[in-house]
Amino acid sequence: MGITIKFVLNGEPVEVEVPTHWTLLRLLREKLGLTGTKEGCGIGECGACTVLLDGMPVNACLVLVPKVGGRKIETIEGIGSRESLHPLQKSFIDHGAIQCGFCTPGILMSSKVLLSTKSNPTREEVKEAISGHLCRCTGYHQIIEAIEKASEV
Ligand code: FES
Ligand code: FES
Repeated sequence: MGITIKFVLNGEPVEVEVPTHWTLLRLLREKLGLTGTKEGCGIGECGACTVLLDGMPVNACLVLVPKVGGRKIETIEGIGSRESLHPLQKSFIDHGAIQCGFCTPGILMSSKVLLSTKSNPTREEVKEAISGHLCRCTGYHQIIEAIEKASEV
C-alpha cells in the first residue's frame, strides 16, 4: 500500500508517492536519488544514515515514511556542494577526517547540529555529538580535530 507524502527536503517542497512500509533512508536513496546518505547497519546502530528531521539528527533507517509528512528533512546534499563546501566539509578534507567516506555524511550532519547550537564546543561535547556514529577504522582523532577546527572558523 502506498501513500502520498509532502515534506520539505533541503529547503524545497517535495510530494512523493511511496509504500507505507518504506523507511526515510530508502525513500531518499531509491526514490529521490539522494545517495549521499549511506546505509550501514540498517538497524539504528551505526549512524551512517543520519539526516536532520526538523533540525535534529535521526537515523533515517529507523524512520518510516508516514512520519515524514509535513516535516523538514536535511541531507548531506543540502549542506554544501563541490563548488561551495560547508566549513565542516572543508575542515574534514583539510584534517584527513574522511577516511572511509562512508560514515562521513552522517557525522557531518550531527556535527552541523552541534556547531549550530554551540559555537565553541568542548572536546567532550564534540565526542558526545558524534557518539552515535561508528567509525570502523577507529580514526576518531582526525574527525574530532576537524570538528573542533571548523568551530573556530
Ligand atoms: S544504517 Fe541507520 S544507523 Fe546504521
Ligand atoms: S571514517 Fe568511516 S568508518 Fe572510519
